[in-house]
Amino acid sequence: MSDPVPPKSWVREDGFVLSTDPGRLNFAVVHAYLTRSYWSPGVSRERVERAARNALCYGLYGPDGAQVGYARVITDRATLAYLADVFVLEEVRGKGLGRWMVEIVVNDPDLSDLRRWMLFTRDAHGLYERFGFGPLPAPQTAMVRSGPAS
Ligand SMILES: CC(C)(COP(=O)(O)OP(=O)(O)OC[C@H]1O[C@@H](n2cnc3c(N)ncnc32)[C@H](O)[C@@H]1OP(=O)(O)O)[C@@H](O)C(=O)NCCC(=O)NCCS
Repeated sequence: MSDPVPPKSWVREDGFVLSTDPGRLNFAVVHAYLTRSYWSPGVSRERVERAARNALCYGLYGPDGAQVGYARVITDRATLAYLADVFVLEEVRGKGLGRWMVEIVVNDPDLSDLRRWMLFTRDAHGLYERFGFGPLPAPQTAMVRSGPAS
């Protein structure tokens, strides 16, 4: 999908950068993490790159320019956004980068007037609750269908 919105970036005081420039993404780093994550163990690099091409991706970079985190938003930019593949590499965790990244993503003006955001998480509810995420209001109305790649 060609991205109609030009890439944007945000710089933190200590030099960490968040960017939506797809050309900056380091898929060696992104794939190395996602393939050992609890939600997509063994995922192929081809699938990670295909998923990124068809989504709005935020790369997190250290002051030296190396990629240290990632978040991916699957969206029509009008009604729904699904936040996925959020990670910060172990060596830079605990510095508020996850919080900083999620805050920027959910407040991105390009995604400001959506009807709904969704995500799944095993244990990071506390991270997302501060940005307005909560349990499904009526779980009996939601359905999911597993595909062959699940
Ligand atoms: C979750 C993750 C992105 C947080 O990144 P981080 O830069 O270390 O986090 P921060 O320093 O911004 O702190 C996150 C805050 O959320 C809270 N939190 C809640 N659940 C958490 C969880 N499962 N993991 C980490 N932090 C969590 C922390 O206590 C912290 O709260 P505080 O601001 O009151 O101190 C990172 O730990 C990570 O990559 N974890 C593995 C992948 C993962 O679980 N991703 C989320 C999938 S939904």
